[in-house]
Formats: sequence, C-alpha cells, structure tokens
Amino acid sequence: MGKLRDRKNRHDDFYRRAKRESYAARSVYKLEEIDRRFKLMKAGQRVLDLGCRPGSWMQYAAARVGPRGMVVGLDREPVDIALPPHVTTLVGDVLEIDVAELRQGCSCFQLVMSDMAPDTTGVAFTDQVRSAELTGRALDIALAVGCPNGAFVAKLLMGEGFEPLLARLRETYASAKTVRPQATRKSSTEVYLVGTGKKAGAGKAEPEAEPAPASSEPEQNA
Ligand SMILES: C[S@@+](CC[C@H](N)C(=O)[O-])C[C@H]1O[C@@H](n2cnc3c(N)ncnc32)[C@H](O)[C@@H]1O
Repeated sequence: MGKLRDRKNRHDDFYRRAKRESYAARSVYKLEEIDRRFKLMKAGQRVLDLGCRPGSWMQYAAARVGPRGMVVGLDREPVDIALPPHVTTLVGDVLEIDVAELRQGCSCFQLVMSDMAPDTTGVAFTDQVRSAELTGRALDIALAVGCPNGAFVAKLLMGEGFEPLLARLRETYASAKTVRPQATRKSSTEVYLVGTGKKAGAGKAEPEAEPAPASSEPEQNA
C-alpha cells in the first residue's frame, strides 16, 4: 500500500510530460528551466554531461546545440537510449577518469553540466559529503576543460560542502548562483550551482582571491 502511494507520487506531472515528450527522465525539465533562465546553450556549442544516464539531459542538449554542435556524456553505467550522431557517451567513474579522455577531440566545452547523485545512505551528513565530492570533481573538470567564458551547472545536496563549493565557483566564474528548479521534488534537498562567465586563467593555478559577485541565496521560483 505504502509502496503504491510512493509510486503514484513519483509519477507526477513532470514524469508524465517526460513520457509524453519521449525524454528518458523528468529531470530534463530542471535543465530546461536553468537553460531558459541563464541562456546556457546555443547552436554549434560543445557540452559535457557528467552523470548522463538515462540520458534526458543529453537529449535536450543535443537538440539545443544541433548537429553542428557536440555532446559528450559520461556515466558509471552504459546509456541505453538512441541518441543522435553528434552525441558520444563514455562509461567510467568521474572520480577516476582521465580528464583528457573526456575531451574527445574538443579543445574545450562551452557548458559542463553534472546531474550526478551519490548512492544515498540515508545518513544526511554522509550523503552531503559524497554529493559535494562529486560536485567538486565536476567543478575541477569544468575548470580543466571548460572554455573561457563558459558555463557550469551541477547538482548538489544542500549542507556539508555547499559554502566552500559556492566560494570556489565565485572565484572562478563571473557569476555564481544557486537554483532550485520547479521540477525538483519537494522532499529533495538538492540545488543546482550555476556558474557563468568562466574567468580567464581559472583552474590553471590557485583560485584568484576576489570579492564574491553574487548572492548565496537560492533563487526562488515564481
Ligand atoms: C540523476 S542521474 C542523471 C540523470 C540525467 N541527468 C538525465 O537527465 O537522464 C545521476 C547519474 O549519475 C551517475 N553517477 C553517480 N556517481 C557517478 C560517478 N562517480 N561517476 C559517473 N557517474 C556517476 C549515476 O550512475 C546516475 O546515472
């Protein structure tokens, strides 16, 4: 009975819309909202998607950048949906992969995004620490392979590790925000860090010590 009710709640409007629109997951609407608000993607751009399975973010990004663009996705598990030829998927652990392998011939990516989530333990502190480790690694990768003036989007469980990550984002991107998209489940503590305008030289040396340009308050949705 409890399980049935849980499943019913999971299958909300975003879930049904994703089914109707042939997206692999309802999380596509989180990315769509962030893209709409921050104007992240354009035709012809290159996008790196960390934690890309089952693939709705890649489906969305592939359509936004078009066939002149390129999408590279990485996940621990293989992706099993059909994707257009300008999408390449890699299987590997983000914590272990050689960053050079992610490039796939690209000089840099205009957008590096991560929807990675740790296997949750139910212990909030542990889950937050693991989430921060994945997001920190995603930021390391974005600083290594992101284009100058490029953008970064990454999921993070609120709590341990949030402030230091936001501080790093502020040091390395001209604008740093936290967003909680409407498609986020009410029970979830996740937010998305959004960095735009990757600073020249960011990631090559120690982070520059500059005053924070943006508020740390999560943006409220209308
Ligand atoms: C919420 S799902 C991503 C959903 C995806 N954005 C979409 O729209 O289809 C999170 C993914 O992160 C992946 N992941 C978690 N830890 C990872 C790691 N260390 N390396 C690579 N992928 C990881 C999981 O395997 C899972 O597929």
